[in-house]
Amino acid sequence: MSRDQMTFAAPDSAARPLYALSPDEYAAWQEDATEMFRAWASAMGFSGASGQVVLLPGPDGQPAAGLVGLGSDEDRARGRFQLASARAALKGGTWRLETALAGEAREEMALGWLLAGYSFERYAAAPAPAAMLIAPEEVNAARLEAIAAGEALTRDLINTPARDMGPAALEATARDLAEEFGASCAVTTGADLAEGYPLIHTVGQAAGETRAPRLIDLRWGEAGPAVTLVGKGVCFDTGGLNLKPGGSMGLMKKDMGGAATVLGLARMIMATGLDLRLRVLIPAVENAVAGDAFRPGDILPSRKGLTVEVNNTDAEGRLVLADALALATEEPTDLLVSMATLTGAARVALGPDVVPFYTDDDRLADRLGEASRRVADPLWRMPFWAPYEEMIEPGIADLDNAPSGGFAGSITAALFLRRFAADARRYLHFDMYGWTPSPKPGRPKGGAGQGARALFDLLSEGL
Ligand code: BES
Ligand code: MN
Ligand code: ZN
Repeated sequence: MSRDQMTFAAPDSAARPLYALSPDEYAAWQEDATEMFRAWASAMGFSGASGQVVLLPGPDGQPAAGLVGLGSDEDRARGRFQLASARAALKGGTWRLETALAGEAREEMALGWLLAGYSFERYAAAPAPAAMLIAPEEVNAARLEAIAAGEALTRDLINTPARDMGPAALEATARDLAEEFGASCAVTTGADLAEGYPLIHTVGQAAGETRAPRLIDLRWGEAGPAVTLVGKGVCFDTGGLNLKPGGSMGLMKKDMGGAATVLGLARMIMATGLDLRLRVLIPAVENAVAGDAFRPGDILPSRKGLTVEVNNTDAEGRLVLADALALATEEPTDLLVSMATLTGAARVALGPDVVPFYTDDDRLADRLGEASRRVADPLWRMPFWAPYEEMIEPGIADLDNAPSGGFAGSITAALFLRRFAADARRYLHFDMYGWTPSPKPGRPKGGAGQGARALFDLLSEGL
């Protein structure tokens, strides 16, 4: 898949200026501009309002310069969105950014531009070449390109239909990534999986030989804090015997969104060489229907030893994650993270764009909240509400995978996972959606990484 739209152009003296201006800055710009440009911009109704784009004519029939409106101070601080939407309007050509914004705001603008270059090209011809931007001065271009490439990987993986993105394809992606960055990658399948990871095996066993369940284990980095990322890799979620109705099943190729996001985040970490010991664990399965599917009422053993009563085979994510989390805590871990398209309840509570996260570490939560605002990656803390623990205790087994009543579905799922992550120094869980239902600047409809950029920002500062 072509990625050149998500990198910066080489320096080019013929690049045209792109002025990103608030209304005040536009007033100052007008004073310096030629009479022709001044007249043209005002005839086009440009005022510096957020999202406006005007091309100024050049002698060769090509635009000589562009204006992008940044709007109010508040809008201006979010300049990445304006730049992302401007990119589409610019059509083609090579541009250099002229902006008074510096520091993080300038970085965000440049990242918005790169993210707007994403398109999913696996099954249909690529769109016409987009406008290109020379890396603005004083931005860390390599870092931004690494973030964009990580996000692009996540989107590609989610967008790829389950037919071409089964457990084996997810494994191949992890192996390729490991090879590219000198990481190790071990995969457990078959009898070893059944023996060591009974929940992953049981959830995935109905999917057949060629789409058999597996646990992917990638490691990278020699020194620094130990960070383990666990991603839900349900390559398709039919619901199992508790079959989803058609309307709910339609989008379930994205049920490996957690795995796609941790792989994208891992790519950001490895490409920028963050100082940490990274481990990525992905239980990769397909929740399918067949004679050997697990059933409602089954009581399953788990790697940690806790037994789980299955009250709904559609609550499969927490089952496969439980064994991966248990493995993660078998060695000292400074930060254990799970990312998963875990519950419909999360989307009911916060919608598709805001991701609930859970942690018992207040400082970590505060830092993540700040990072989330800084890099415009919306997250919202929800509580590991201990009094609800009783909801996940069925009586005849240690745990219930799908408490009846349906109260607090995202919280009870998080509490379930915490039982298996209890030994980590810090545990952080994201109940994500992984999908943009209607396009926004820099975010086409389709697969979306959520939480990765915020976490990457936090990890870049150090744990
Ligand atoms: N993958 C789904 C959750 C999901 C559904 C995420 C729609 C995003 C959009 C998960 O495996 C699931 O089916 N969860 C059930 C759990 C319930 C049976 C306890 C749910 O949320 O309905
Ligand atoms: Mn499900
Ligand atoms: Zn699922």
